[in-house]
Amino acid sequence: MPERIAEVTALLAEVLAPRAPLTVIVDGGDPGAAAAFASRLAAAFPSASRAWSIDAVLGLTGPGGGFSDSALNVLEPATDRILIFLRGGSRHRFAEGDGERRAQVVIDHRDPEWPVIRQIHPDLADPDRWYLPESRAFFAARAADWDAKFGDDIPRYAEAVRLAGVRPGDMVLDVGCGTGRALPALAAAAGPTGRVLGLDFTPDMLEAARKAGRDDHATLILGDARRLPVADAAADVVFAAGLVHHLPDPAAGLAELARVTRPGGTLAIFQPTGRAELAARHGRTLRPGEALSEERLDPLLAESGWLSRSYEDAPDRFLVLATRHS
Ligand SMILES: C[S@@+](CC[C@H](N)C(=O)[O-])C[C@H]1O[C@@H](n2cnc3c(N)ncnc32)[C@H](O)[C@@H]1O
Repeated sequence: MPERIAEVTALLAEVLAPRAPLTVIVDGGDPGAAAAFASRLAAAFPSASRAWSIDAVLGLTGPGGGFSDSALNVLEPATDRILIFLRGGSRHRFAEGDGERRAQVVIDHRDPEWPVIRQIHPDLADPDRWYLPESRAFFAARAADWDAKFGDDIPRYAEAVRLAGVRPGDMVLDVGCGTGRALPALAAAAGPTGRVLGLDFTPDMLEAARKAGRDDHATLILGDARRLPVADAAADVVFAAGLVHHLPDPAAGLAELARVTRPGGTLAIFQPTGRAELAARHGRTLRPGEALSEERLDPLLAESGWLSRSYEDAPDRFLVLATRHS
């Protein structure tokens, strides 16, 4: 298997090299990580495009003598100045600053052996170039341990399915089903006359779902939520747990979910943990205007074919229910 760092730096070099001359600044991660990443990235650039420089900026010294925050917090991104933020490591708290938000490229660097691109500014690269392989790499590394890590949440899925109002005979789509934690409850609610499809774009997640016997409850499909292999208005209920905030264009993603849902059908956007609790688990605090915040999600739903019915963000449940416009 090719080294992950080689895949990531090759992809970034391909995206960035045509923009030379430019300066690339890398920050974040463990001490030394930015410098190591920068030198791998520099090596990945074709030698013909040497009209650029790569600096590893390791944070600024604050008034108390320590790092005050990510250097990226005070640097301006520009078309010829590319800011790359390494998320994770002992300097994870720096993600709370503006650095991560301002960086044009964000790399998940919690496991330095398995870096994954989580964001490239759309002005630099079309998400179609990087989103699928990088997101798959992100979830593939987590698939085998997913249920062991989060298995205790399963009763919360059953309750969310009850609240979503799945009825006997319903055609239900679990988009981004992962290891299929919601599938037994969805299948029980839809009953023998109903049908449940679990769709995910990470083969390792579907493999884990099969190993857990979740294919006894649903048909598992490999596919992309942004282009569902499902006919218009086919679904009565769409269940999306932990999916929407991972989509590069949430409005387009919600519109695709609306396309496959019949008028009057239901969308349930769920997480077995509240937004603040989930952010804290990842070492960050919530920002206003994030994709799942009420002020952002309500208009997103409205413009993509949904009527928001309820919004709940409790410590042990994030659940938004919406109805497909007729
Ligand atoms: C946070 S996990 C949640 C998994 C599962 N729904 C659960 O609650 O346990 C997100 C899942 O969505 C999948 N995913 C992310 N983006 C996707 C897309 N565009 N199309 C299909 N699946 C996607 C990932 O592979 C991953 O399995």
